[in-house]
Amino acid sequence: MNPLRDDTYRQITGLMHEVCGLSFADSKKPLVSSRLSPRIQRLGMGGFEDYLALITSGQDQGELQVAIDLLTTNETYFFREPAHFDLLQQELLATRPTSLSVWSAASSFGDEAYSVAMLLADLQLRTQGPAQWSVLGTDISDRVLRSAAQAIFPQERLRQVSDERLRRHCLRGEGESEGLVQIKESLRRRVHFGQVNLFHPIEGIGPFDVVFLRNVLIYFDPPTKTAVVDRVLKLLRPGGLFFIGTAEGRVPCETPLQVLGPGAFRKGAVS
Ligand SMILES: C[S@@+](CC[C@H](N)C(=O)[O-])C[C@H]1O[C@@H](n2cnc3c(N)ncnc32)[C@H](O)[C@@H]1O
Repeated sequence: MNPLRDDTYRQITGLMHEVCGLSFADSKKPLVSSRLSPRIQRLGMGGFEDYLALITSGQDQGELQVAIDLLTTNETYFFREPAHFDLLQQELLATRPTSLSVWSAASSFGDEAYSVAMLLADLQLRTQGPAQWSVLGTDISDRVLRSAAQAIFPQERLRQVSDERLRRHCLRGEGESEGLVQIKESLRRRVHFGQVNLFHPIEGIGPFDVVFLRNVLIYFDPPTKTAVVDRVLKLLRPGGLFFIGTAEGRVPCETPLQVLGPGAFRKGAVS
């Protein structure tokens, strides 16, 4: 197959920006090339130009979704950036709400959504947490959402989960499934997943008490970051907690926020 030409690269990444807001620097060309090449070969196509024609034709939305699935970065694991989960727990112990609705807004395979669910289920077990709670995980990638609903994970991704918690909420695979764990049905039924493109107006969900929007803003350019943050914050109740990745810095937005810690905020002006 011919190498990915600069102009084709710009058109493919331009399309990704148009559809889901993702920005790719010139240095990402080898990455884009290596992620798309196997798919193009499997389809028996001549090269990147044919593939670009297919995904821009508007006639194969399914293949455009495959391209999005291939070009998004889905790295995640349970209780990533644990200080955010500690802060959430402290807040719940201090305020004792009777109900809580949580949104994991770029949930990837669901690790973040199930981490929150474990925390809430354990607080409830000790009668210290809200009796009514739900967690919604959303993502643009079909592939990760299908996997999230199955709730099967390599055990390695739960390395930050204590043995006790693991036993309470997970089933360990045996034989061919050795090394995998599945979240138990009792927890799975409290966690739902759906497709939401953060780059477009968001309808039909919320409002939420807590929003996790972690490790996705890094893939957007500055104006897109701001627009996405304000759009997401519209769905957070006043006083609600908002988390972004600790490496993502402070994102400028119109919505007043109080800083609680690295990547942790409360919606509303400082009083
Ligand atoms: C690195 S993962 C972050 C997972 C999790 N929040 C965490 O911090 O571990 C980033 C996710 O953002 C999703 N994503 C990228 N662009 C998106 C968009 N426009 N709308 C919704 N999700 C998007 C990707 O599909 C990917 O699963």
